Amino acid sequence: MNRYSIQSAFLGFAAVGLLWLAGARPANAQFTQNRETIQINQSDLPPEIHQAYRTFKAKCGMCHTLDTSLKPSLSAAQWTAVVKQMQAMASSHFNSREADQIAKFLAYDEIHRKAAAREAIGATSGSSPVAAGKQLFESYGCSSCHSVAGAGNTASALDGIGSKRTVEELKKLIVSPPSGSTMPPMDVPAKDLDTLVTYLLTLK
Ligand code: HEC
Ligand code: HEC
Repeated sequence: MNRYSIQSAFLGFAAVGLLWLAGARPANAQFTQNRETIQINQSDLPPEIHQAYRTFKAKCGMCHTLDTSLKPSLSAAQWTAVVKQMQAMASSHFNSREADQIAKFLAYDEIHRKAAAREAIGATSGSSPVAAGKQLFESYGCSSCHSVAGAGNTASALDGIGSKRTVEELKKLIVSPPSGSTMPPMDVPAKDLDTLVTYLLTLK
């Protein structure tokens, strides 16, 4: 089986990745690996999610690290679409029942582990909204597609965005990008959106 690694220059996941995956993709694409940094203990999960987690672990770590799948922050519908795309790849081996299980785990992880992590960031935002916004930028997976000061995906740098866009424009660009945009609408609730935009506005 081919060993893939994710190329840092490759622009993003979800919409961008999906379009690209759906199109002509070189069979032996080379990707640089993410490091495995996200730890999940099955014992922290409720019993009804154990099987879904095990399926995810067995099937989604075959071509890239599990971090690649755990880092992006997507809605349940977007996760279902990503899992379908991964399933469609020639060298992936899981059936539709397993795909449902995996999507179930990813949706669960999104509203529990990831939500709790953001809650913790939000708790500190009172004292330093800019620092909290910077952490949310990582937490929502913005840096898989965007860079700031050279950190993140340099294919789309957001340096200087604070001089180009107003608060309202930024909010709209994040949660409902213009039609035809390759950026997926990001599922960011109002409170986090305020903090995120406070950070983006400092990028002058
Ligand atoms: C057959 C190999 C293969 C399997 C199995 C696989 N993937 Fe992937 N995955 C890829 C390749 C190749 C890419 C790079 C293309 C891209 O970024 O869209 C990728 C990219 C991704 C990305 C985008 C990462 C980024 O930052 O650009 C996500 C998210 C993802 N996979 C999730 C999953 C999930 C969830 C599963 C389990 C259902 C899975 N993958 C199983 C091959 C695989
Ligand atoms: C899947 C990749 C992807 C993700 C994830 C992503 N973006 Fe984007 N974003 C893009 C692309 C590509 C563009 C520019 C062109 C376009 O709209 O197609 C863009 C445009 C933008 C713009 C407008 C830039 C300008 O010059 O007007 C802002 C602001 C932005 N993104 C912020 C964010 C934030 C904040 C997040 C995380 C909550 C995020 N993006 C997540 C791909 C992504």
